[in-house]
Amino acid sequence: MTLTEPAPADRGAVTGARPGGPADLLHLRAAGTSLLLALPAGGLPVVVHWGADLGDLDDAGAAAVASAARTTVVNNDLDEPTVLALLPEQSRGWRGTPGLAGHRAGRSWSTRFVPSSVDVQRDGGGAVRVDAEDAGAGLALHLELELLPSGLLRHRATVRNTGESPYEVAQLALALPVPAAATEVFDLAGRWARERSPQRLPLVVGAHTRENRRGRTGADAPLVLAAGTAGFGFRHGEVWAQHVAFSGNHRAVAERLSSGDAVLTGGELLLPGEVRLATGEQYRTPWVYAAHSTAGLDGIAARFHEHLRSRPSHPRSPRPVVCNTWEAVYFDHDLGRLTELARAAAEVGAERYVLDDGWFRHRRDDTAGLGDWYVDEDVWPDGLTPLIDVVRGLGMEFGLWVEPEMVNPDSDLVRAHPDWVLATGGRTPVPSRHQQVLDLGNPDAWSYLLERLDALLRENDIAYLKWDHNRDLLEAGSGPGGEAGVHAQTLAYYRLLDELRARHPGVEIESCSSGGLRIDLEVLERTDRVWASDCIDPLERQQIQRWTAQLLPPELVGSHVGDRVSHTTHRANDLSFRAGTALFASFGIEWDLTRAPAAERAELARWVALYKELRPLLHSGTVVRADSPDPASALHGVVAADGSDGLFALVQLTTPETSVPGTVRLPGLVPDAVYEVSAQAPGDAPALRTASTAPWLTDGVRLSGRALAVAGLRAPALQPQQLLLLRTRKV
Ligand code: DGJ
Repeated sequence: MTLTEPAPADRGAVTGARPGGPADLLHLRAAGTSLLLALPAGGLPVVVHWGADLGDLDDAGAAAVASAARTTVVNNDLDEPTVLALLPEQSRGWRGTPGLAGHRAGRSWSTRFVPSSVDVQRDGGGAVRVDAEDAGAGLALHLELELLPSGLLRHRATVRNTGESPYEVAQLALALPVPAAATEVFDLAGRWARERSPQRLPLVVGAHTRENRRGRTGADAPLVLAAGTAGFGFRHGEVWAQHVAFSGNHRAVAERLSSGDAVLTGGELLLPGEVRLATGEQYRTPWVYAAHSTAGLDGIAARFHEHLRSRPSHPRSPRPVVCNTWEAVYFDHDLGRLTELARAAAEVGAERYVLDDGWFRHRRDDTAGLGDWYVDEDVWPDGLTPLIDVVRGLGMEFGLWVEPEMVNPDSDLVRAHPDWVLATGGRTPVPSRHQQVLDLGNPDAWSYLLERLDALLRENDIAYLKWDHNRDLLEAGSGPGGEAGVHAQTLAYYRLLDELRARHPGVEIESCSSGGLRIDLEVLERTDRVWASDCIDPLERQQIQRWTAQLLPPELVGSHVGDRVSHTTHRANDLSFRAGTALFASFGIEWDLTRAPAAERAELARWVALYKELRPLLHSGTVVRADSPDPASALHGVVAADGSDGLFALVQLTTPETSVPGTVRLPGLVPDAVYEVSAQAPGDAPALRTASTAPWLTDGVRLSGRALAVAGLRAPALQPQQLLLLRTRKV
């Protein structure tokens, strides 16, 4: 084995470097996370410790940690200790899910990789890259593991066929071990209009496997799959979590073996035959991100947020107030009506006007037109320019909705190119919203989309695309043979976005998919905002946003103020609850303001002004979600990075069991700083169940961050579907 030595300044990265010896040890540290990795000469890297910081370790210290963690041989088992490597292999005794599953005509199905080189880098948190081979199986492997400055870990693997016949990959996924202290599993499920429902179960022997076969990230994607100590919550407990950064089929697993070994694995879910490697060809997995926290799920979220915010591509301009036309007019596209809406939106302070579905040829409802990406000549005889001119004249940016990957069978495109639709078995896949999927693996179909989108952006003053994707991919077969095509489709989608962004670097893109069904870190490499859900009922949104925040900071998550009566739930909500919910996000309006009472428009304008005042805080601070003793209420907030300011929302979701409310604790502030706490209410005060309110709310109060976190304040008795905003300013 050759070990690429670190640069002189970085020496010490690899401790006990003994090429050819039993194992070199590499200790990487970042932001309170340690990764101690054993790099054996004869096998793949083994995680000795992934978790809380181990402090400075010299060679002897690292060796002692590794030695103390060494596994044992037990009675009636293998005669050698099982090795749980990053890529677990049966040839090393692993009897759980293998890291690589594949074969060449029934052979080469089990591997024993031996490293040929290890490259260690110390930039940021540090990175290690390992090349390994199994000459007998005719396979080469490349592993990449990085500890990012945020303390996030990310890894991926590439397998190359060095043999002489084709090799089919069924699965490639790396495994991160979690210690015995992790006894509970947590992840998210969900459905359309109710994305990201939390679920929790014991980490028992067996596998908790979350498979996605929808061809898009999905409403029920785990988002983060976490294992943690018993009862871990938002602010307490030790948690290990992973996120599979992929917008196609994927798999996330928390697995525990009867040996006691437990792992988190994640990767792409490959359909039969999707990856068949000819000699010299390779397959690379998506990045899988992993985070450790000693401070519950908020600690995990903080690492993801910090990572996202550190990207050069992270949106840094103030997130504009959006007016989206969908729930205001649906398919009723009429220049007069849309102009009136634009004026009303500008009047309340909107900064970006997004023309949603319904503007292109034949699109009078959802049964026709998808694929015909030309401005409809009947509805828009002079093109979109007259509306864009009005919008620009009112000082707003113009955005446009598109759903490029989709087609209606009733479209000129499908009539001209029926073979451009994903299908297999000689039948058309089950329709969904009257639509089918364009085969982006077909270079002609891909080029058509690029040409159309590029032309729309060149010919119109468009600053923003809302990129939608409204169906699952079923029987997504590509080409005349109908071979499984989700893998190719997903990569082609990324390529299309990459090419468009290269041609139009100034255009921002929103990732939407029947609401919040395409939210993952790989699509976020190419998009600037996500639409969290088609449900903008604030009561539902409280949950959807609370859990979307597990991965994304508020500035990336779109949230709109809708009509008083929600279109998806038919539940009525006060404006203060609607706007106070949308405030903790990338704020927008999706409501026919032309029909809203003047008083409500005036109140909305005050909320818009508050959002503009607070967005520097909301879009840079640390997200705080308190563990609520009563599920009827919730407390969340954002605290400035320097602790000088904070905004919290005390939310009454349903009626509480008790008549007198308990105290509400405001965590996350600087313990020794003193804060002035005041209600922040630009609109109507929230409705109460009592004649009087808590005295501190009327008289004001000054308390230390410590007192606010541990003693708290007597909560006012809010009626259900009400929220109270509290500002905490350091004095
Ligand atoms: C689904 C999206 O989530 C909605 O916001 C809207 O854009 C519709 N599609 C339009 O068809």
